[in-house]
Amino acid sequence: MIYPIVKYGQPVLEKVAEPVTVFDAELEKLVADMFDTMYAAHGVGLAAPQIGISKSLCVIDITSGEDPNARIVLANPVIVSTEGKQTDEEGCLSLPNFRAPTTRPMKATARAQDLHGKEIMLSGEALLARAFCHEIDHLNGILFIRHLSMLKRDSIRRKVRKMVKAGEW
Ligand code: NI
Repeated sequence: MIYPIVKYGQPVLEKVAEPVTVFDAELEKLVADMFDTMYAAHGVGLAAPQIGISKSLCVIDITSGEDPNARIVLANPVIVSTEGKQTDEEGCLSLPNFRAPTTRPMKATARAQDLHGKEIMLSGEALLARAFCHEIDHLNGILFIRHLSMLKRDSIRRKVRKMVKAGEW
């Protein structure tokens, strides 16, 4: 099932997600749906709050479906260490058509649980580190625009407000 993606402005995107406590077939189905939804939207990551479900769960695939082994599922993830810095264009499926240079760590290590509840540690560099940080931010109610200058953030907010008024958001 492909879910509609919740856009910036919806409260679910700005609250801390609830921990995943049950690792069952229902969770597996939700994760499969999240991958389908992410691929349909041409994203490289998707967090459960983006489909309106306040659960600490995200999926990532920086190959956009080209490599089945690149699929990553993180339940209850936390960033445990970071190294270096990178600045590159970043976007978010919940803020369609807004992209901006965003500074992130060059390397990031996350501790999480997999689909079966087993504890895992994953490290990523470059785009994967960016995806870890972006998606885990979502689970803490933080959107990427929080990392931009206040000027840039306000400009995006104003544009979104105009689009909301015009019924285009
Ligand atoms: Ni996002």
